[in-house]
Amino acid sequence: MSFQRHRRLRGTEAMRALVRETSLAPSQLVYPIFIEDGLSGTKAIDAMPGQSRLGLDALADEARGLRSLGIPAVLLFGLPSSKDETGSQAWASDGIVQRAARTLKDAWPELLVIADVCLCEYTSHGHCGVLRPDGSVDNDETLPLLAETSVSLAEAGCDIIAPSDMMDGRVGAIRVALDGGGFEETPILSYAAKYASAFYGPFREAADSAPQVGDRRGYQMDPANARMAMDEVMADLGEGADIVMVKPALPYLDVIRRVRDQVDVPVAAYNVSGEYSMLMAAVQNGWLDERRAIDEALTSIRRAGADIVITYHAKQWARAHC
Ligand code: PBG
Repeated sequence: MSFQRHRRLRGTEAMRALVRETSLAPSQLVYPIFIEDGLSGTKAIDAMPGQSRLGLDALADEARGLRSLGIPAVLLFGLPSSKDETGSQAWASDGIVQRAARTLKDAWPELLVIADVCLCEYTSHGHCGVLRPDGSVDNDETLPLLAETSVSLAEAGCDIIAPSDMMDGRVGAIRVALDGGGFEETPILSYAAKYASAFYGPFREAADSAPQVGDRRGYQMDPANARMAMDEVMADLGEGADIVMVKPALPYLDVIRRVRDQVDVPVAAYNVSGEYSMLMAAVQNGWLDERRAIDEALTSIRRAGADIVITYHAKQWARAHC
């Protein structure tokens, strides 16, 4: 009996590049931006070292920076100057994200502007929908508000609508409303598999969207469930989602892989605030090499099967590699 010694390819960087299975390019990255109404310039987000909230007057510069790095897309979150029970600033035609979208498009018309659609940043109670007297979220009362918000964002020039609220039936309701408003071509990126995760912690400071009472476990998924993610993905595709997202990313690489293997639409993964803060805290302590840790984290998300990576590291990665 003969056997052959297993041989792993070694050699130069060119050789390694030739056989590399996974690639990462700035064209696959989406950079999330927090825009605060009334803010002038930028304001650091303490829980996310290196990230800031931006005022409207800082957006043109931001767009120029992204353009020079080759990052094609942003995901917008708004911090309105006032909140109310239903979150009406979410669909105001002069709402903060609507104004931000116009400003960004003026600065760089080709920039892909993705709008996060949710009410939690706009409601006084911080939940993602309309509350019933008993404090639970009323799914069906929330749907028309999400639909109206989506149309208003499309009217403001947003290229992709990304509902993150997790109400049942929201993708269908938004699709019908967009079509009715003349936005048949505007795609929906649905936060399809969105887990009830501790890793959204820093985001709630960044976006000022923590629920005042209770939590989101009633409408986000249990981290213990992976099959259920497919059920959510299939439901969203059935309602007309064009791109599906898994969120968070690194603790859910198996879910990204599962979704990638079972659907043919583009898959996005959201490397969320807590994943960012965790890595950056270790970098600040000198415990991790920033460049290598970021590259490995983002490459792993691609290797798991994500076509699109939404990440606060987008600019750091592009600066280091392009
Ligand atoms: C909801 C929303 C959240 C995030 C994106 N959209 C917060 C939540 O679901 O509680 C979190 C993103 C992050 O942590 O970076 N509007």
